[in-house]
Amino acid sequence: RPRVLSGIQPTADSFHLGNYLGALRQWVRLQDTHEAFYMVVDLHAITVEQDPKVLRQRTRVAAAQLLAIGIDPRRSALFVQSHVPEHAQLSWVLECQTGFGEAGRMTQFKDKSAKQGTDRASVGLFTYPVLQAADILLYQANSVPVGEDQRQHLELTRNLAQRFNNRLGKTFTVPEPYILKDTAKIYDLQDPTAKMSKSAATANGLVELLDEPKRSAKKVRSAVTDTGREVVFDAENKAGVSNLLTIYSALSGRAIPELETAYEGKGYGDLKKDLAEVLVEWVTPLQAAVKSYLDDVAELDKILAAGAEQAREVASATLARVYERIGFLPPA
Ligand code: TYM
Repeated sequence: RPRVLSGIQPTADSFHLGNYLGALRQWVRLQDTHEAFYMVVDLHAITVEQDPKVLRQRTRVAAAQLLAIGIDPRRSALFVQSHVPEHAQLSWVLECQTGFGEAGRMTQFKDKSAKQGTDRASVGLFTYPVLQAADILLYQANSVPVGEDQRQHLELTRNLAQRFNNRLGKTFTVPEPYILKDTAKIYDLQDPTAKMSKSAATANGLVELLDEPKRSAKKVRSAVTDTGREVVFDAENKAGVSNLLTIYSALSGRAIPELETAYEGKGYGDLKKDLAEVLVEWVTPLQAAVKSYLDDVAELDKILAAGAEQAREVASATLARVYERIGFLPPA
């Protein structure tokens, strides 16, 4: 079976709708066809300052959310990145194969470091995409389900894999990004030209899976739309409505043209009201499931330990081959 790998950062109290529709939903589906490795990337999280207690808690909450949306630990390896030391080890080797200028061209780094100032931005933030490449290449992943904002990191990963293979012999599978066109970028409800993100300008533009359902419903009902009246998909001229239609379609499984027909002669208000209901119906049981996973932390930690063990088997084999190719003397 082909392999799939992806990761998500434990840097917020909850995943948001962009994470879910852009990436996590595909994680769940790909379990049917792929051997899957899914992880909570705590090493990536510390590229910006984290409170230790909060990080530990968020890591568990992240894992509980992944289980609740349908990641099945009997079929897939679900683990925490820092439990598999090979990630940091391969990352170092790959850093030595990455050009300084090449890393400097990563737009996420440029954006984040510009926000923080170059003196406060960490070297880890700079090498972040190389660690991500290590994550992927360790598992010889064929496919990497992510949102549009990760495309450049995937391109770097492919370049690093090819470079290593060309120089030292075929070692890595060159992975393909798996980015679904329709939901690759979910937009902020208050500013439908910006991507939905935990660092959003306004909290009202961000729908968090673990937020009070009533609050999320209210955010949907007060989403920014345009001045027209017809519920039609037109990303250029009706960014707000189009974003709502994308979300609605993905959550309900109803195609966008079908929704357009259903809302003929109705207004934006009806669309928002109904979408708010769909959302509440979906997050309410999801939150209960998350809570039940968090009620049994011992069991949760056991799942993660088993996942890490499974992951290490594959990761250590790749790392051993890399060390050999690079010319490291094996320990006697
Ligand atoms: P992270 O934690 O920022 O986000 C997790 C996933 O959610 C997607 N995403 C979105 N998709 C659509 N619309 C949005 N508004 C939106 N916001 C976030 C992201 O594209 C991502 O797929 N660098 C990664 C984590 C990572 C990783 C990896 C991913 C580390 N190692 C290896 C894949 C493979 C990140 O920061 O994702």
